[in-house]
Order: sequence, then C-alpha cells, then structure tokens
Amino acid sequence: MSFYIAGTGSALPEKIVSNEDLATFLDTSDEWIFTRTGIRRRRVLTGETLNDLAILSARRALEDARVAGNEVDLILCATMRGDTVTPSLACSVAEAIGSHAPAFDLNAACVGVLYAMEVADSFFAAGKAETALIVSAEAMSKLLNWEDRSTCVLFGDGSGALVLKKGAGRLAGVLSTDPDSHVIRMPNIEGMNSPYNQNGQQPLAMHMDGGEVYKFAVNAMGRNIEQVCRLAGIAPAEVDWYLPHQANIRIIDASLRKFKIGKEKVLVNISEYGNMSATSISVLLDEYARRGTFKEGDKLLFVAFGAGLTSGAVLLEWKKQG
Ligand code: UT7
Repeated sequence: MSFYIAGTGSALPEKIVSNEDLATFLDTSDEWIFTRTGIRRRRVLTGETLNDLAILSARRALEDARVAGNEVDLILCATMRGDTVTPSLACSVAEAIGSHAPAFDLNAACVGVLYAMEVADSFFAAGKAETALIVSAEAMSKLLNWEDRSTCVLFGDGSGALVLKKGAGRLAGVLSTDPDSHVIRMPNIEGMNSPYNQNGQQPLAMHMDGGEVYKFAVNAMGRNIEQVCRLAGIAPAEVDWYLPHQANIRIIDASLRKFKIGKEKVLVNISEYGNMSATSISVLLDEYARRGTFKEGDKLLFVAFGAGLTSGAVLLEWKKQG
C-alpha cells in the first residue's frame, strides 16, 4: 500500500521580472539567459510573504482533493528557508488550515518535494497517516546576490502543493546524496549579538559553481531515471510523462537524450518561472494536471537534483480522485 496524488495547487507572486528587466541593472541580456537556460521570465516576491503563498497553494490543493484541513494527518513543507526560523512553514500552514497533524519542514533543496513524497510514503506504510499535505515554497529572491549575474538570473519564487492519499499509485522512489558542501552554498545568519561567536558573518548570498552543478545534474538525472525504472520493472520508454526539475532546459535535454524519449513526453515551464527549487516540480505538476494532460493509469516520472548534492526520482501512476 502506498499513495496516489489526490489534489494539486500552486501560488505565485504577482511580480513578473523579465530578462530585459534584469538587463536594466545587470550586464546580461535576454539572448544570453534564454539560449543558456531556456528562461524568459520569473516571479519575484514583493509585498507577499512566503507564508502567504504556501497557505494559498495548500488551500488550492485541499480544495482540488476535496479534503478539509482537519482531515490531513501529516503536513510536510519542502523549503530551504521559510519566513521564520521557527515556527516552521509547515506549522504556519497547519495553523491556517486548522490542522493539528504533525507538521515539519524538510530541506533537500530542489529535490525537496521528492524527499517529502518518500517521507510521506513511510508514514503511509507505517500506518501513521491516511492523507498527507506536501507544500513546497521557496523565496529564492531572498537568498541571491542580485549583483551576481551568474546566479540571480536563474531563479524564481513560488509555491506548489500536493495532497497525497494512501492507496495504490506510487510504483517506486529513489533518493540519494553525493555530498558536496562547496558547489552550491548559502550561509545561515550567525545570530544577533552572541558575545561568544568567533566566526563572524559570512556573506549572506548563494554561491554556485554552475559548471560543476551542470555536470552533476546531467549525470544524476540519468542515473535516477534508470534506477527508479529498474525498481518499478519498466523501461524509460514506457513512462508517459517526464516531470524534471526545471533548472536549465539544456540540463533537461542532455540528461534525457540517451533515453530517446519524444520531446512531447517531457513537460517544461522553465521559460515562465526559472528555477524555483523545491517548488518547480509541484508547480509543473499542478499546471499540467489542471490542463487535463494526465489520464488515469498514466505513468509519471519526477526527477530532480539540487544543492547538497541531493537527487532523486519518484515514479507513480496517475489516479487523481478528490
Ligand atoms: O537547482 C540547482 C541550481 N543550479 C543549476 O542548475 C546550475 C547549473 N548550471 C548551469 O545551468 C550553467 O552552468 C549556467 C547557466 C549557470 C552557466 O552556463 P554556461 O554555459 O556554463 O556558462 P559559463 O558559466 O561557462 O559562462 C560563460 C560566460 C562567462 O564569461 P567568460 O568567462 O566566458 O567571459 C560568464 O561570465 O558567460 C558569462 N555569464 C554571463 N553573461 C551574460 C555568466 N552569467 C551571465 C549572464 N549574462 N547572466
């Protein structure tokens, strides 16, 4: 017994920032960003909080699944950093939807939503939950150095949510870490005024070695696809829909090339949102689910890589039932 997806939702900031907008204050161009990444624009938080987005996407997913807040047995938020260190984003969502279920945040960077699915699967298998709410929410704009053109053009803000219900659906899942604390790194706040702190404050912005991440990403995506298909006993060609992490269209193309999968099976929306870290896959899923793309029994494969360096894939059959 495992889980199926019973509902999806998403919420995005209102502010749209185009590549041309970035070129007004950075030495960059739409041509460079689009040809190197596939990104045209992204959403950026202005007046809204990340809590606002997370709660809205959670409400939309619950409504889609026709599940009330107090019927949820587990709330997991995939995020690198919520609005507050404590309470967690998951507790803020619990408060807003009127739930007393266990609620906690999980940080697996861009792979967060897949890690959350696998944690929920363990709760289902242990008989500890019948319904789980997974919310991914990222305020990437607040982690970036907006003077560093090699990173700030790549990311966007947003939130997506999924309601999972216990039952047949998930076919297999794999998660792993290739530990590396240098290629993507963002220091935490050292604290206000401890008289004992001897470390000082490191620069509060994300550092990334794009070339190294690129090589890892292509390798890890391919490896995870092979592993999850092998576990489920199917060939990559038998997957109906690929939902890859939306970091760079060239990474998606390069990692899937060897499987000779038709482009129409590979879902993308990176041009509109950039890389929203843990949120990318959940917003992608919500958009295509609401368009009626998936039929009962279709095989969906989610695959992602991220800081850590984390990676993973989840394969499931579509059986959406509110
Ligand atoms: O979720 C995980 C997050 N991270 C990723 O997924 C990142 C993975 N890596 C990538 O997507 C790519 O490596 C990048 C898009 C970051 C970079 O693409 P690239 O083709 O590897 O470019 P590059 O780093 O080799 O840079 C080429 C040139 C450099 O100039 P020089 O040294 O050749 O003169 C950069 O300074 O492009 C320059 N450059 C830019 N130019 C215009 C870097 N960023 C920009 C920019 N606009 N925004």
